Amino acid sequence: MSSPENTPETALHILVLGMGGTIAGLAASPEDNPMQYDAGQVEVASLLAHIQAAIPEGVKVVSKQVANINSRNLTESLMTTLGEAVRKALDSAMVKGVVVTHGTDTIEETGVFLQLTCGKHAHNLGKRVILTGAMLPANAPKADGPSNLLDALRWASTSIDNCPGGIYSVIDGRVCLAMDLAKRHGSALNAPIQDSPSSSAGLINPSWLSGVKAVQALWTEDLPIPRENEWPWVEILTSHAGARPETITHWLSSKVKGLVIAGSGMGGFHDAWKDSLMAAVKHGIALVRTTRTGAGETLLNLPEKDLAGCLASGSLSAPRARIALQLSLNAEKQAQSAGKSLTWQDFFARIAVLPLIR
Ligand code: SIN
Repeated sequence: MSSPENTPETALHILVLGMGGTIAGLAASPEDNPMQYDAGQVEVASLLAHIQAAIPEGVKVVSKQVANINSRNLTESLMTTLGEAVRKALDSAMVKGVVVTHGTDTIEETGVFLQLTCGKHAHNLGKRVILTGAMLPANAPKADGPSNLLDALRWASTSIDNCPGGIYSVIDGRVCLAMDLAKRHGSALNAPIQDSPSSSAGLINPSWLSGVKAVQALWTEDLPIPRENEWPWVEILTSHAGARPETITHWLSSKVKGLVIAGSGMGGFHDAWKDSLMAAVKHGIALVRTTRTGAGETLLNLPEKDLAGCLASGSLSAPRARIALQLSLNAEKQAQSAGKSLTWQDFFARIAVLPLIR
């Protein structure tokens, strides 16, 4: 074992990128009220120093603080910085794997962002990028961050049952593809945050592994990372009882480039939105339908025939569909400036077919 501060970047190592979150949070009265805390207070180097004695022999670790935020404040430019740091690390012969400590509130967005921009690259290089976080702040008596960080380091550094390179998440002793991880409970300490069946962090379940391989076989090419100030503006709008057309027409005079509809049931939206959504599409605003239910797939022309040009999100939740649409719009712009006639729909359709592992 070598201490994170002493590992030279010229030695083969695991790079740990700190983004903040509860794993780096501090409670004012950790014994009495561990849930009242500020996220993103402790440096990632200190989190590693705390578990140093337990880091497996021979595993060298280097850390870098990318941000130290509550992840509800995640920005697009920070995602660009993180994506570029991950790409750079993957390209380095000295980096064996990458761990990202992140807040759980928006880990869903970062998971799909890294899968779509770095997933193929990680797979081709046989390296793992692992997102992890915690439900309790670092100074809580039963803090879960240390064990999650250790599991993530082990997962990044060992070859477990031939599990391929890619973008994963390790939390609560379980591993899943990072694009399948989401916070699905607002307050529970054991918030179930894996959307799909996962595997134990030390033991690979063969049917899970074949699901991972199926996703990776379908994901043939990474999308470009948008430059900091070039993320297309995309909003999520929820259809609900009493929906009004103004919720849609409002955007016609804005610079918004895309709308993700979090619809009811199979992703349907209120009839009051029909004409204004048609006007939005005519106006050149990209439109994606998803479901507000939190589970299940949204499929094209179900329950009714879709507006021409609108796409369904498949198994992507609304926050994931928003990131996927932003990356697709950015890829369209880059393709067109390279003289290729690819549209955002071409890129988005490839993402929406990626299966949830069952
Ligand atoms: C955050 O997302 O930064 C705070 C909540 C958490 O990490 O669980």
